[in-house]
Amino acid sequence: MGTLGCCLLLTLALLEPRNAVSRKCDLQGQWTNELGSNMTVLALNMAGTFSGSYHTAVAATNKQILVSPLQGAQQHPGAKRQPTFGFTVQWQFSDSTTAFVGQCFVDHHGKEILETTWLLREEILSHKDTWKATRVGTSIFTRIK
Ligand code: BTN
Repeated sequence: MGTLGCCLLLTLALLEPRNAVSRKCDLQGQWTNELGSNMTVLALNMAGTFSGSYHTAVAATNKQILVSPLQGAQQHPGAKRQPTFGFTVQWQFSDSTTAFVGQCFVDHHGKEILETTWLLREEILSHKDTWKATRVGTSIFTRIK
């Protein structure tokens, strides 16, 4: 290998870890969580809003699970390395709504995770049942694609 080849390799080797370290966390893609649910986040627009789909592995109802649409927004699109975001899922098989808020983290190897907290509001027939209408939880998503 010539001097030029060596220089090129050395430059690439020196640049690579820095790229991984400075890489921005990207919400777009396919993700899975600890329950086995999968979601797809489509490309964000300039304003940071996005849509996608959510295939939950579990449900609070006995109805057949259907893939459901999600709508969300990322804060300061393109500007932050580890941005915050929120999205809601409009379940197609139940009367509930789930809202997720979270932050996209990327480690020094470029591995991304979404740390989220969710609220699931179930439809109740009387406001007297409000006390039992909301579930809360946390969920960590890792990238599939
Ligand atoms: C329902 O049961 O009424 C709709 C499905 C709710 C699925 C919840 S949302 C929070 C948690 N995380 C998941 O991936 N699935 C459950």
